[in-house]
Amino acid sequence: MNLSLDALINQKLEIIFKSLNLDTKFAIVKVSDRPDLSDFQCNGALALAKIEHKNPREIALLIASELEKDSDFAKVSIDGPGFINLTLKDEFIAKIMDKTAEDKRFGVPETENKHLVVIDSGGPNVAKALHVGHLRSAVIGEAIRRIEKFVGNDVISDVHLGDWGTPMGMILAEIINQDGNLDKTETYNIDEISAFYKKANIRCKEDESAKEKARIITAALQDGNPEYQKAWRHLRKVSVDAIKKNYDVLQTHFDLWLGESDAHDASGDVVKKAESLGLAEKDDGALIIRLEDSAKPKPPVILIKSDGGFGYQITDIATIKMRYEDLHAQEIIYVVDKRQSLHFEQVFEASEKLKLAPGVKMQHIGFGTVNGKDGKPFKTRDGGVMNLEDLIKLSEDKVRESIPTADEVDGYTEKDIDKLVEQIAIGAIKFQDLRNTIGSGYVFELDDFAKFEGKTGPYIQYAIARINSIIRKAAESNISAGNIALTNKEERDMALKIAQLGNTIMRAHAEKEPSIISDYAYTLAQAFSSFYNTSSIMNAENPQAASSRLKLAQLVRDILKQLLYLLGIEAPEVMLKKSGL
Ligand code: ARG
Repeated sequence: MNLSLDALINQKLEIIFKSLNLDTKFAIVKVSDRPDLSDFQCNGALALAKIEHKNPREIALLIASELEKDSDFAKVSIDGPGFINLTLKDEFIAKIMDKTAEDKRFGVPETENKHLVVIDSGGPNVAKALHVGHLRSAVIGEAIRRIEKFVGNDVISDVHLGDWGTPMGMILAEIINQDGNLDKTETYNIDEISAFYKKANIRCKEDESAKEKARIITAALQDGNPEYQKAWRHLRKVSVDAIKKNYDVLQTHFDLWLGESDAHDASGDVVKKAESLGLAEKDDGALIIRLEDSAKPKPPVILIKSDGGFGYQITDIATIKMRYEDLHAQEIIYVVDKRQSLHFEQVFEASEKLKLAPGVKMQHIGFGTVNGKDGKPFKTRDGGVMNLEDLIKLSEDKVRESIPTADEVDGYTEKDIDKLVEQIAIGAIKFQDLRNTIGSGYVFELDDFAKFEGKTGPYIQYAIARINSIIRKAAESNISAGNIALTNKEERDMALKIAQLGNTIMRAHAEKEPSIISDYAYTLAQAFSSFYNTSSIMNAENPQAASSRLKLAQLVRDILKQLLYLLGIEAPEVMLKKSGL
């Protein structure tokens, strides 16, 4: 069921266009550019006139006179060179609102071409604490996952753990440096492992021979050296446990916890295929595929590095093969920092040359960096990398400034408050991330992102909680929801806003752009505010108006919850605010 008002009008237009023998491609309306004149406009007559070399107003007149016969329209007019302006009758809009409220999906249709989408996001690395960059990948990936599911696609999300590159050899080498061997490795926890990695990083930057050693160990590890493998398995396990805890707090879900290492055998197959297709070439000790002959020449991809190991590129290429053969992916979406766009162009082109995943749509959704006020990547106060845990703590501290403690409110334990703080803090972080178009970086607004006003997560959460409280009060006054009737401008404006839900979600899906949803959620919450300021439920003019408004309020609440869900954000039933705020 598609209850978008424009879709419903398009259906009407299509019938009229057919009867007039006009190309139905142009039987399309959009939300009016002139809301003072109309609800929707159709510009089809202008396009048709160009093709048929006719006067646009004449064609518009033909269409308009048919539309006028339809009692769902309050007004049909032709303006300017041939725009058809359409205003719907309040009764029609109200009827659609009733239907929307009855539908589990709020009248948003599923996609016509359902398929299996694999989402590659998160991209954490063994032994490295998650930082704000990883936050974006996980948060955007989760929103895209939920949107894909909502439109009816099957989705498999895969975290694609960085567990097979040189950093692995670097850590092992560092442990050997310090302990003389790897015997104690299995006693090390995540902090100790991260500390080894940090030291290894410094050492390898300063000392070429240390780097070389790390490379040799990595190649041996990949080659199956049992001692290295045993130690590495521990590093991986401890890291995965720590990362999972972080993602649980963030409420980002991954169906698969595969890593680069899982693509090892498939990498070998890729090399064989490249060789058999005559695409592999020796170059300076490495094995490569050249990508110079395409429309956009690119540097070659490296299949085998000169030290004999597999690197970042071939593991991604082999993973495509696995996603196609084992998972039967029809689309693969990578949510990765946009600075890796060349890497993905290379990987996609190589996999095409190798015919690894015929017909699979692949897309890199590249996101920009999270910056501090100085325009540089977001750092902690003392200039360190902002870890995800630090960021969550910072957000929780901010939220605590706005909500009362357990002693200050009845019926709340400290645990309840902690839970609420977490829900708001995570909502604030995620919304701030998802309110920006993915490609653009953003400045982390330390002062504003957790506020209850403005375009923030807490503002939407608060709007929902406010409606919950209105609904509870209405129940106490024995008001029950009834048929929707529009009695004033604010109700009508809000209904028209609600009617844009379907298009909003479909656009967010098509453009893989959750910010379209956050934008809409914000304006819908604002429309509710204006509505509620003018249209009282408790003191309505008559019982019908009260029932209708209650139903509209419930509908907006349910839609806002759904929208937050799509963004991966929880909606607490009740929100608390410190008095005086
Ligand atoms: N681990 C990588 C990094 O931290 C990101 C992985 C992204 N996904 C992929 N399939 N390459 O940069």
